[in-house]
Formats: sequence, C-alpha cells, structure tokens
Amino acid sequence: MNKEQIRSINPGEVIGFQDSVNQLTRESWPEFMWHNSVIKEHWDDLFDRFPEYQAILLDTKTNQPIAVGHSLPFVWEAELNRLPDNGWDWVVKKAVQDHKEGRTPTAQVAIIVAIHTEYQRQGLSSKVLQAVRSIGESKGFTNLVVPVRPNLKRLYPLINMDDYIQWTNDEGMPFDAWLRVHVRLGGKIIKVCPQAKTVLGTRAEWEEWTGLKFPQSGEYIVPGALSPMELDIEKDEGIYIEPNVWMQHSLA
Ligand SMILES: CC(C)(COP(=O)(O)OP(=O)(O)OC[C@H]1O[C@@H](n2cnc3c(N)ncnc32)[C@H](O)[C@@H]1OP(=O)(O)O)[C@@H](O)C(=O)NCCC(=O)NCCS
Repeated sequence: MNKEQIRSINPGEVIGFQDSVNQLTRESWPEFMWHNSVIKEHWDDLFDRFPEYQAILLDTKTNQPIAVGHSLPFVWEAELNRLPDNGWDWVVKKAVQDHKEGRTPTAQVAIIVAIHTEYQRQGLSSKVLQAVRSIGESKGFTNLVVPVRPNLKRLYPLINMDDYIQWTNDEGMPFDAWLRVHVRLGGKIIKVCPQAKTVLGTRAEWEEWTGLKFPQSGEYIVPGALSPMELDIEKDEGIYIEPNVWMQHSLA
C-alpha cells in the first residue's frame, strides 16, 4: 500500500469514526474477550475521555479506518518493573480513575492495535504503532508501555508465557510476530503480566461465545485464547485468565 493512500485522522475527527473503529477493533479479538468486565464498563471512555490518544489510519480511497491503535494516558511514578500482574485490566481502570480525579498523567499505555483483516500483512502494524508513539511524544511522555497480547501465542496455549517469549526465529528475533514488531521499533520486554485480562462467564455463556460444548468440569482450549479456560460445572463458572507481556518503548 503506498503512503499517499493512508492518512492519520485528527483528534477532532475521532468521534465521527467511532462506529467503524469499534467494528474493526471488535473483529480483531475473539468474541469472548469482549465479555471482559473492564472492556464492557470502560470501552466508551476511550472515545469520551481520551479521543486524542486514539491513533486511526484511514484508506483515503474509501475513507474507512484500516488500522487502529488505542491508547490512554495514566499516572505511574514507580519503576516500570513494578507494573502490576493484572496489567491490562488494571491500567484501563487506572487511566479512567486518574482522569476522573484530574491527575496529571506521566505515561502512555497502548491497549489494542488492530489491523483490518483485508489490510493485514502489509506492514501496517509498524505504521500504527509509530502513530501511537507520536501521540505520546506530542504529549511529552518519555515512556509508552504496552501489555502486549502476542498474536501467535493462541497457537501454543499450553506453553507458559515466560517460555514462549524466549522463543526466537532464525534471525534471533522474537518468534512471535507481534512481539517482533515491537522489538524492531525499539520496544523492550519488561516482564510477563500473568493475569492481564480476566473473562468470567457461565457455561451457557462460554458455549455461546465459542460455539463449543463444555459437558464437564476441566481445562479447555478455546480458539483465540492464549491459555486454557477453566470450567467448574458445580459453580456454573468458566474463567479465562490471559497472560500478556509488559513492554516499554522510550519516546523521544
Ligand atoms: C497482529 C497484527 C497487529 C499484525 O499486523 P500486520 O499489519 O498484519 O502485520 P505486518 O504486515 O506489519 O507484519 C509484521 C510481522 O508479523 C508477521 N505476521 C503478521 N501477521 C501474521 C500472522 N497471522 N501469522 C504469522 N506472521 C504474521 C509478518 O510476516 C511480519 O513478520 P516479519 O517481522 O518477519 O516481517 C494484525 O494481524 C492484527 O490486527 N491482528 C488481530 C489483533 C491482534 O492480535 N492485535 C495485537 C494484540 S492487541
């Protein structure tokens, strides 16, 4: 795709693209992820509170969003290696709370990057990550942190994330495609955040979200999940706890 065919939208235009951006982002993650309680409660806050932190690339021929990078500002004054284990769920709530209390943010966090399926594998992921970084730089932050969801981990749900992030390809770069994009742009792995996102549901809900049947208690491999989902029939509760990877980018 040539450069002339892509443009970044301005903050004032974000609201006008909210529905099409929501559709693009929604299609990028498996259905069950959208039943995470933090997403359900705070998704609209991204647009209502932080429109200028949403990086959106448009195809100028169709005027439709083709890549998005959702980010937020938050307050973090400790060492980055003390970022919490429940990274994603925690940081979204923290950013909203900081904003409600009028605290001055000190760092930027990217929470989702999604590329329209028809535009994947054309190098857009680096462009949108750069657009996210430019937002942080324009705000004067020195750090962008990301609870990264490695995109190929879903193919290896039984492997521990600590082991998975050590895997490398023939060039010595991370095996995982999305981790590789971050590393190439200067991102550094801080540590695994083992309980980044939690999704809770009844058996019927999990069956509806996944199209699978869960006849007995136990661990299940669910398409798109990075680790197994654990179902307890007596409690009528299925729990999925997703590990992510805290990464850091230094901003200019
Ligand atoms: C993961 C994602 C952001 C990658 O974006 P993209 O624009 O398609 O990727 P690029 O064309 O920039 O390619 C980057 C690298 O990933 C590789 N890659 C991309 N998609 C891949 C796939 N499905 N399987 C294997 N490798 C893949 C590319 O070959 C390239 O590898 P290289 O480093 O050897 O050059 C995109 O596929 C996506 O939106 N997925 C759904 C949402 C998601 O998982 N987001 C990330 C976590 S929030």
